[in-house]
Amino acid sequence: MIRPEQLDELVPGPVLVMGAGLVGCYFGGRLQAAGVPVGFVGRPGVLDELAVHGLQLTDLSGGRSEVPASALQLHTDVPAGGRPSLVLLCVKRPALVPALARLAHTVARDTLVLCCQNGLFPAEEAMQAAPRLRLLPAMVPFNIMRRGPGHFHQATSGQLVALASARLAGWRPVFERAGLPLTLHADMLPVQWGKLLLNLNNPVKALSGLPLKAQLLDAGHRRRYADLVEEALVLLHRARIEPHRVTPLPWKRFLQVLRLPTPLFRLLALRMLRMDAHARSSMAEDVAAGRPTEINELCGEVVRLAQSLGAQAPLNARMVDAIYALSR
Ligand SMILES: NC(=O)c1ccc[n+]([C@@H]2O[C@H](COP(=O)([O-])OP(=O)(O)OC[C@H]3O[C@@H](n4cnc5c(N)ncnc54)[C@H](OP(=O)(O)O)[C@@H]3O)[C@@H](O)[C@H]2O)c1
Repeated sequence: MIRPEQLDELVPGPVLVMGAGLVGCYFGGRLQAAGVPVGFVGRPGVLDELAVHGLQLTDLSGGRSEVPASALQLHTDVPAGGRPSLVLLCVKRPALVPALARLAHTVARDTLVLCCQNGLFPAEEAMQAAPRLRLLPAMVPFNIMRRGPGHFHQATSGQLVALASARLAGWRPVFERAGLPLTLHADMLPVQWGKLLLNLNNPVKALSGLPLKAQLLDAGHRRRYADLVEEALVLLHRARIEPHRVTPLPWKRFLQVLRLPTPLFRLLALRMLRMDAHARSSMAEDVAAGRPTEINELCGEVVRLAQSLGAQAPLNARMVDAIYALSR
């Protein structure tokens, strides 16, 4: 256990959150509450909210921390001369390349950038946008929701995973202290596919219009979700990619549990159902707000995997079309 006075020695330097939204405010807030100097780059609407209310961070196990508004460093653009040691890049996928290009112009060469997007990391595209930065894909396994102005809540459980790097390893005790334990992996592809399979429920949730828990308690929606995962698993097997387990169950068993009648599912999936009753998918919120969704990075990725194998993924392809239609 790290004592507060030891933290100064541990923190390798300031952190910059690029994209102060659900993930950015939660991660940045928890790190700042643990003593790390953090700057937040975001849109004026979010920054105005933080400037009035500060940050309140809560989680499933009753953890709670706060950062007063007066202690927050808020920016509408990447501050010149800030020299962050670590950037948490928390924009959504459609905003990733422009955000990287902006960072590449402003932060020092070789700055560590933890890319927290869902889906598979677009390494080539990202490297082209920011060739001089040290880009590390990360996988955020849990769901963050807004509970009120400046209040961000971790609504499900799981551990943050990132690509192994010696410099990032130096941040692990700091993340641990902030309540964000970080695991490092040498190969992120199976980790990202694991999270992607879990996220195949996002379009089902968005189409259902229900909060996550209510949606999982509906046998029809669960079956639709299981079918999308099964279609992807067959293709991954052909591509010799073994997706990581991101639930306590192996994937095949996970599908069996999803397909159980609801009373049995409720009994066996206690841990999966351990979540805030109001937790929603951000895809549902994007659709409602008319913003671009990440469907192309989820089901679209399964369709591209199928094409690369000379096969098809009709269920995932239909989901892509359904979400585009809903967005229109
Ligand atoms: N939310 C979750 O529970 C969760 C969990 C796991 C993983 N993820 C992944 O994490 C990523 C971020 O998700 P999120 O839910 O945190 O998204 P979010 O709430 O939309 O936050 C991103 C914020 O960054 C802003 N932004 C985009 N480009 C910017 C720029 N150049 N400068 C300043 N601000 C900029 C966005 O504004 P605009 O909307 O105006 O672009 C938005 O306010 C996504 O890939 C998501 O899939 C999310």
